[in-house]
Amino acid sequence: MKVKVILITLLTFFLASYLNARGNLSTKPVEVFKGCAKCHGKDGRNEAYGRAEPLAGRDIEELRESIQFFKDSTFERKGVMLIMSRQVKHLNEQDIENLAEYISKL
Ligand code: HEC
Repeated sequence: MKVKVILITLLTFFLASYLNARGNLSTKPVEVFKGCAKCHGKDGRNEAYGRAEPLAGRDIEELRESIQFFKDSTFERKGVMLIMSRQVKHLNEQDIENLAEYISKL
């Protein structure tokens, strides 16, 4: 009986984290950008710890190239680069294009 309770608790925990992880894997620019906004600002105008120029209003092509670069690179234990890379790994070319367009229009 006790084992059953523990199993159900564990299952609930895994299901919850699975759903949570899936939520972060959205390909919609608005959803993806929520992750970026933590550092770059909701309106894309933060300087991300003073280390990046604001993203809002940048050239689409430049943004597309940077995002593609984050996706293609394997940053091992490289702080923010690794975080950005993880946030865009699941995007395909069209998703990246859409995200770049979204950011350039912020
Ligand atoms: C953990 C904080 C953090 C998150 C989350 C984050 N970034 Fe960044 N980003 C930075 C920092 C810091 C830099 C500057 C990196 C450097 O050059 O050292 C940067 C640089 C960039 C640059 C290059 C800017 C330049 O100055 O050339 C782009 C483009 C960018 N981020 C896009 C994104 C996108 C798109 C996302 C979401 C998918 C994202 N970032 C998520 C912190 C973050």
